[in-house]
Amino acid sequence: MTTRRPFVGGNWKMHGDLARAVELTEDVSAAVASIAEAVDIEIYPPFPYLQAVGHALRGVGVAFGGQDCCPHLEGAYTGQTSPSMIADLGGNSVLVGHSERRHGLGETDDIVASKLRAGLAADLQVVLCVGETQAERDAGQAAEVVSRQVRAGFEGLDAAQARRIVIAYEPVWAIGTGVTATPADAQNAHASIRELLGSMYDAELAAAIRIIYGGSVKPGNAAELFAGPDVDGGLIGGASLKADDFAAICRAAMPS
Ligand code: PGA
Repeated sequence: MTTRRPFVGGNWKMHGDLARAVELTEDVSAAVASIAEAVDIEIYPPFPYLQAVGHALRGVGVAFGGQDCCPHLEGAYTGQTSPSMIADLGGNSVLVGHSERRHGLGETDDIVASKLRAGLAADLQVVLCVGETQAERDAGQAAEVVSRQVRAGFEGLDAAQARRIVIAYEPVWAIGTGVTATPADAQNAHASIRELLGSMYDAELAAAIRIIYGGSVKPGNAAELFAGPDVDGGLIGGASLKADDFAAICRAAMPS
């Protein structure tokens, strides 16, 4: 078992309305109350509901963050949200490089890297999402793609900055599809990422960084997916919209 503190994130994507966001926040906080001491639990609501979620969470051991951010802290960027605005509302984290932005909106490694740096500059913890598409996997390029994405994200960061990053390995073919990587696939990918971090920094830093798995994690498969020694929790989409399912997944991440 790892000495890294497990991390489970709930990515709500663009679901719900204000009343539902508050209700889900309250239900999640109640359902994970006894788990949050042992696991970092973070929810990522849609931007318009961040403040309401922050109020509903006050004093509870669950944190919240943004699903994305602008690569700049302030300025003439119509429609964008600064990472410092997320921090201003009490958020402590931001997702960057989610596949729905890389592949759905054409975000390049460079754009993702600049968002990551903006998140760090706003003192947020950054969850860097990486993962190969089905076509890349079929072409035998999975390891190369993931390593390119990780390198681009960490390029030029010092060890203190690197420690504030959580990596989410999310094979694109497993997101929202009901198909998951096997526990062995997830463990192998995570071990390769950790090895890469070791070569970019050192073994101590590589051992400290959390690498979580995402892609169709459910209460029924979470424990086996999280059992790998290099798998430190998960980033959860669909199942994070049901408080009981999300809590069961958080429980599966607790150190045994
Ligand atoms: P999923 O989404 O759990 O619905 O597959 C995961 C994610 O997009 O982070």
